[in-house]
Amino acid sequence: METVKIGIIGVGGIGSAHLNCIASGKISGMELAAVCDIDEKRLEYARSVCPGLPCFSDYREMIKSGLIDSALVSVPHPLHAETACEALSKGLNVLVEKPEDITVGRARALNETAKKSGKVFGIMFNQRTNPLYARAREIVSSGGIGELKRTVWVITNWYRTQSYYDSGGWRATWSGEGGGVLLNQAPHNLDLWQWICGKPCEITAFCDEGKWHNIDVEDDVTIFARYKNGATGVFITSTGELPGTNRLEISGSRGSVVIERGRLTYKKLRTDEREVCTGCKESWPQAEYDEEIYEPKSAGKAHAGILQNFADAVLRGGELLAPGYEGINELEISNAAYLSSWTGKSVSLPMSMEDEGEFERRLFERQKRESTKKPPESAQQTHKTYSERWEVRF
Ligand SMILES: NC(=O)c1ccc[n+]([C@@H]2O[C@H](COP(=O)([O-])OP(=O)(O)OC[C@H]3O[C@@H](n4cnc5c(N)ncnc54)[C@H](O)[C@@H]3O)[C@@H](O)[C@H]2O)c1
Repeated sequence: METVKIGIIGVGGIGSAHLNCIASGKISGMELAAVCDIDEKRLEYARSVCPGLPCFSDYREMIKSGLIDSALVSVPHPLHAETACEALSKGLNVLVEKPEDITVGRARALNETAKKSGKVFGIMFNQRTNPLYARAREIVSSGGIGELKRTVWVITNWYRTQSYYDSGGWRATWSGEGGGVLLNQAPHNLDLWQWICGKPCEITAFCDEGKWHNIDVEDDVTIFARYKNGATGVFITSTGELPGTNRLEISGSRGSVVIERGRLTYKKLRTDEREVCTGCKESWPQAEYDEEIYEPKSAGKAHAGILQNFADAVLRGGELLAPGYEGINELEISNAAYLSSWTGKSVSLPMSMEDEGEFERRLFERQKRESTKKPPESAQQTHKTYSERWEVRF
């Protein structure tokens, strides 16, 4: 195969951005071969950008058309697993938007289908292309901060107004979206958190619903985490804070990494703190460390980087930066956070089947009694071009 012939399922906000990116030839070895949307206006838009492009209103028809070998799934998240499974089981490679779906159970089913298919399966965790996060991962996984002690991520610059939530569509509803900030904005950060620091083994959380907006789902979250080695973590996110903060701090026995304002500061202790504690005769010695400041010129290739990486994996068997199978990791954290908040108890990871069932039962109850708004067929406001709200902001 010389070219990946991709079909986009869902040409809304991000789907249109992908359409423009691929159609303008920015992804080498990838050709936009068809699109699908249930909204005729979105198909009209696609035709206006790419005259003559085959357009479908039923993704099953596009999948079996023979026109595409790969599918890019950018429909609302509760449809991700069923859409991606259909494509994989019909022999297509799949790149799915984040989050993988809304429950761990559905993500697991998708992973199993992907494994059985043997096709390339990626997920759009575009923030993994940011060199700052890649460097943090490299430092932590190579033992550069020693034994993990604590992680703190305050990511509160996902600000959204009431007008954003009132713009209609499936957003910020239990039935349309399956959650709020944890499922829409924060999946990138939850993914990076576990990608860099490892997955916690226990979650306790407060997910405050409609705290800053007139919505049913959560818009303010504090997660407390415990790791297997006894380290602790805090993850705070909100769409109700201005100007908000994006600061990640990871500390270990051998030093620390802080990412803030687009800069990574790595302090590497010359002697492990545990040795200082037991070996040093002074009561409060000065820390002796070497400091590395890393301030990359570019924020990485973001969505285009993941598209290129996917094309390379399909064409040449290259390694995926964000394998689809890893989408389940951040979902486990968010599912556990909801369950903990709803029950007032801590939740162990991996979640037991009993906890998974309890989470789904309570989510389903919320979907049934939803009050604020009902999801129409598709969103009312669609961004047609790349939006800076999708970029990493500090
Ligand atoms: N990676 C990122 O940075 C990023 C950014 C934005 C959105 N997203 C993700 O992309 C997905 C879509 O978000 P959006 O903001 O583009 O939403 P959107 O509502 O603007 O677009 C969704 C599109 O899917 C279409 N659609 C719905 N059901 C369909 C079906 N059964 N078949 C075909 N088309 C269907 C809708 O008509 C709409 O045009 C979400 O899961 C979201 O989390 C990711």
